[in-house]
Amino acid sequence: MPDTVFILNGPNLNLLGTREPHIYGTATLADIEGDCRSLASRLGLAIVFRQSNHEGDLVDWLHEAHAEGARAVLLNAGAYTHTSIALHDAIKSISVPVIEVHLSDPDTREPFRHLSYVGMAAADCVKGLGRRSYLVALERAAAL
Ligand code: DQA
Repeated sequence: MPDTVFILNGPNLNLLGTREPHIYGTATLADIEGDCRSLASRLGLAIVFRQSNHEGDLVDWLHEAHAEGARAVLLNAGAYTHTSIALHDAIKSISVPVIEVHLSDPDTREPFRHLSYVGMAAADCVKGLGRRSYLVALERAAAL
C-alpha cells in the first residue's frame, strides 16, 4: 500500500469536540477524519484512520503500517507522546516515516508536555494549528 497514509490517534482523542474545547477546538475526530479524507482524495492518497486509548494498539498499528508498505504515518499519540518509550522504539523499528501531529502546541503548555518520546524518533512534526495540523502533515506526507 505505497500510496496509503496511516493516521493514528491516541488516548482521549475520541472525545474531541467536547474535550477541553478552549485547547483542542470544537471539531470532533470524525470531522478531522472527514477533512483528511477530502484532502487525501485530492492528493491521490488512501488513508487508514484509527483511534485507540491503548498504547499497544498504537504499537501494533505502527508495525502494520510498515508491513503494508505505507507511505507514511501521521501519529497524534496524545499523552503517550510524553511517556511512551514503546512508541519511540516502534517508530525506530520501522522504515515508514512517522510525522508527529498535535492540535495544540505542547511546548507552550505544562512542562510535562515539553518532552516528546515520539518526537525524538519521528521524521517531522506539525503542531499548534488545531485541526489544520493534520492537513499540513498530510500534505508533507504526500510530498515524501
Ligand atoms: C495532544 C497534546 C498532548 O499533550 C495531549 O496529551 C493530547 C493531545 C494534541 O493534539 O494537542 O492528548 O496530542
